[in-house]
Amino acid sequence: LSATTPYTTLPSVVLVGPSGAGKTALLTLFERGPLSSSSSAAATHTSQTPSSIELSVSANSTSSFRDDLDATGSAAKKFLLVDTPGHAKLRRHALSRLTASGTKHANGSIAGSGTAAPPSTLAKLKAVVFMVDAAALADGDALPSTAEYLYEVLLALQKRVAGGKKAAPVPVLVAANKLDLFTALPAALVKSNLEMELGRIRKTRSKGLLDSGVGADDLAAGEETDDWLGEYGSDKFTFKQMLEFDVEVDVIGGNVVGEGEGPGADKWWRWIAEKI
Ligand code: GTP
Ligand code: MG
Repeated sequence: LSATTPYTTLPSVVLVGPSGAGKTALLTLFERGPLSSSSSAAATHTSQTPSSIELSVSANSTSSFRDDLDATGSAAKKFLLVDTPGHAKLRRHALSRLTASGTKHANGSIAGSGTAAPPSTLAKLKAVVFMVDAAALADGDALPSTAEYLYEVLLALQKRVAGGKKAAPVPVLVAANKLDLFTALPAALVKSNLEMELGRIRKTRSKGLLDSGVGADDLAAGEETDDWLGEYGSDKFTFKQMLEFDVEVDVIGGNVVGEGEGPGADKWWRWIAEKI
């Protein structure tokens, strides 16, 4: 399993999330199997371009990332795991992979801007893994920026469906990483903190729209809801509201580094395998 240029015909799973969350570490783990904390997973550095690897899971989705399917000769489903840079200035790489080309904003610009992925790639998008650093979220500073990025991702997926295009629904896994660290927030708190912050962002954004002086009469039908995430007009945001747009969101805790010191990455792998 070596690094390859993307085969656009394979189903793909895209790894997104803020810088330092552990996306490249997870890709490395799935590619090479378990790593000790002193090995190359720890030696990752800020990614600047997307990269992808080819992986496979058994036809019944039950094989582990540790299994060598070639050796067992079992029929396998191949897929592409795409790593993207988390740095705020490079996020368009990730977002462009999530937006159906032709999904347009009210002002005519393409959502996600710039390089929209070709339709062939989009048709094969099976799932999105949004990785967060649960230890960084514990002290609160990382919460607003993490939630901002998640808002963009979920909104892009909502628009795929809301745009009326017959796009296949794309489920999202929020992977609460670094649970090997005792300072990390448990997955349930990662979930509730993110929901609360997404609700706050939603409120702020809708207020911005009102303050801009654009009256409801000036907006064509549907446009006023354009940047509203989830159930329109609801007070609190919950991930369940995304089901209205066929976007299923699961929050699962785990860790890439520190074998035996946390839940590991198996549940994430199983989640991904079931979506392929
Ligand atoms: P960008 O490429 O900048 O978007 O970041 P990234 O999400 O790819 O993060 P990366 O994989 O480079 O990991 C950042 C740091 O977190 C590295 O030092 C990893 O070793 C460390 N890390 C990743 N996963 C874990 C984990 O489960 N536990 C702990 N303790 N550290 C981890
Ligand atoms: Mg990286």
